[in-house]
Amino acid sequence: MPRKVNYGLDYDDDYDDNYDEYDYGYEVDENETPPQKETIKHSVWRCSICTYDNDETMSSCDICGVLHGPLLNNSIYDKKRTANIFDLKSSRVSSTVVGRDEAVKVSSMRSDSSNQSTEKGKHNRLDEINILKNIEVGPPAGSRTSDNCSASVQEGWLGHVDESSVAVNLRSSGKSSLSLMPKERNVMVDDSSSSRNGGEANSLTSNLENISFAAKSRHSNDAKPGRAISRAQYKPEKWMLPEKAEHSLTQLNLAIVGHVDSGKSTLSGRLLHLLGRISQKEMHKYEKEAKLQGKGSFAYAWALDESAEERERGITMTVAVAYFDSKRYHVVVLDSPGHKDFVPNMITGATQADASILVIDASIGSFEAGMDGTKGQTREHAQLIRSFGVDQLIVAVNKMDAVDYSKERFDLIISQLGAFLRSCGFKDSSVSWIPLSAVENQNLVSAPSDFRLSWYLGPNLLDAIDSFQPPTREFSKPLIMPICDVIKSPSQGQVSACGKLEAGAVRSGSKVLVMPSATIATVRSLERDSQACPIGRAGDNIAVSLNGIDGNHVMAGGVLCHPDFPIAFAKHLELKVLVLDGATPILIGSQLEFHIHHAKEAARVARISFLLDSKTGKVVKKAPRCILAKQSAVVEVILQEAVCVEEFSKCKVLGRVFLRTLGRTVAVGIVTRIVEEQQ
Ligand code: GTP
Ligand code: MG
Repeated sequence: MPRKVNYGLDYDDDYDDNYDEYDYGYEVDENETPPQKETIKHSVWRCSICTYDNDETMSSCDICGVLHGPLLNNSIYDKKRTANIFDLKSSRVSSTVVGRDEAVKVSSMRSDSSNQSTEKGKHNRLDEINILKNIEVGPPAGSRTSDNCSASVQEGWLGHVDESSVAVNLRSSGKSSLSLMPKERNVMVDDSSSSRNGGEANSLTSNLENISFAAKSRHSNDAKPGRAISRAQYKPEKWMLPEKAEHSLTQLNLAIVGHVDSGKSTLSGRLLHLLGRISQKEMHKYEKEAKLQGKGSFAYAWALDESAEERERGITMTVAVAYFDSKRYHVVVLDSPGHKDFVPNMITGATQADASILVIDASIGSFEAGMDGTKGQTREHAQLIRSFGVDQLIVAVNKMDAVDYSKERFDLIISQLGAFLRSCGFKDSSVSWIPLSAVENQNLVSAPSDFRLSWYLGPNLLDAIDSFQPPTREFSKPLIMPICDVIKSPSQGQVSACGKLEAGAVRSGSKVLVMPSATIATVRSLERDSQACPIGRAGDNIAVSLNGIDGNHVMAGGVLCHPDFPIAFAKHLELKVLVLDGATPILIGSQLEFHIHHAKEAARVARISFLLDSKTGKVVKKAPRCILAKQSAVVEVILQEAVCVEEFSKCKVLGRVFLRTLGRTVAVGIVTRIVEEQQ
């Protein structure tokens, strides 16, 4: 039944850097020649952090606030600044370990997101993302050159946006009705020509069409011996590739996203009920219990919102995972929370999505609230999923009953939201608009019966899901599975890593390399949809039970990979980032949360190499002092601790990043170069 996914605490919540106070009188000059050696004027002192030339009367930097004076050297400053953010790392909790039946959340991060749920008016604000095209940059000045080939990022870039990818807890809730399909289902889609990959080129990202980033890839000396073999040289074994006949249905990971209270869980619950995944008996039970608690209208949502707190508050807090079969797909439903405080949790589901349903509340005032620039999660979720590479979208315009199934209202929503989705990089042809009512069961799995919706002649929701293009799977690439959760069973001495297989395949007996501990383990058994399964292939969400490894060496944020193709582990990275509209500027020295797949680290911006023209992608300024909202730049970040990472050009899922501060996502980006790898 639905497994739930939890998330970690923002450790920058108390970080008090306030960039808003600064005056950024900064303009991009396209014709500007690269700065020559600048001279420091006599009457100024140069800030060693942000390089701003301050008037000598200033005791601290006008831009970044660093004190001027011999007693306070940079390293002291750095330590002081980093302490705020890094100390909070102690908020990580050690893994919980319980017996088998209570199997268990094990997270590398504190996961009491509920407690911070109210967190103090720190709203995530992601505004419309300006799209970049044709970005081209030369090699960064002073960057480490490589005799490896240049990294060429031909596709969208940005990756994960926002919040959390970390500390994820998956839990099997054990309700049989929603659990799962024992059959091995997968789909053979050509790796090389993927609609998905193609789509990414158009994402948020995409609007960054044809990013050609000529920065050199990592220094050859940095490569570990095992990394000498190119992933392209890998030859999969026969069992790794699915036989077409064997699999009748393709798995489709479908993220249900949208503003708080738009009806995501109700819609998901109703669909599952209509498709026989929730029995009548169970439905009666939910109805009864919901009524007793005075929450009768949440009966369908209760199928997904399982925890007492979720039910009491009437909001989803963690991602629920459930399954149903359509004509073409074995659909994995990832019902996300809409509340702004749980955006990190929403990201967990969204990073695994092949396609998405964006649920809109059509009621007067509610659609508008979701579109609000500062508080609306409709905008934020749309931006996030696009930046994760999701390019196929259904907009489920829900609660049409509340507006009398008005065509005018539906059209207005299409025109306003449609323009926004285009600005995020969604193509009109990849977006379906479905008016429906989850509560009144209109237009979900059959044509609407209410005459007020007779003006609508398009497909119902289920048909629209079947119209999605099948996702591309990297079956014939070496194994990669970012670990989003770890389940330990000490009584049995077992440890299982959970996550989505992004590439390759495993079966019992397979040797896997567990990163970052760089330990080889043997696959003992696999579970998919809570059922034992013989083989896990790209696209599957699986739990991999491991032998021959200390449980402490398996952690959320780590990666299972092929022993001959270890992924990198690094803390000094070069990124190409886009600062989101309305976000705080990024300065040299800025302390940020760095998010990558299921890992999160404190990071410091060590260098801003170039500012890029958002339309042409050309370098418009070298070594700027800051990156303002809607600007794109190449930066170097140094993380407090190393993370499992790959350049985006080599592995998208391990090369998408997003940067956050003050509970908001400030930038999305991709890893363009691993400056220095940990040995
Ligand atoms: P979060 O997960 O907390 O973001 O909420 P949600 O989007 O999952 O919304 P949920 O399903 O919990 O529903 C919120 C409220 O909207 C409940 O009271 C539902 O009964 C109501 N609701 C959902 N769908 C419809 C609908 O089609 N029409 C009407 N009138 N109300 C609906
Ligand atoms: Mg919900």
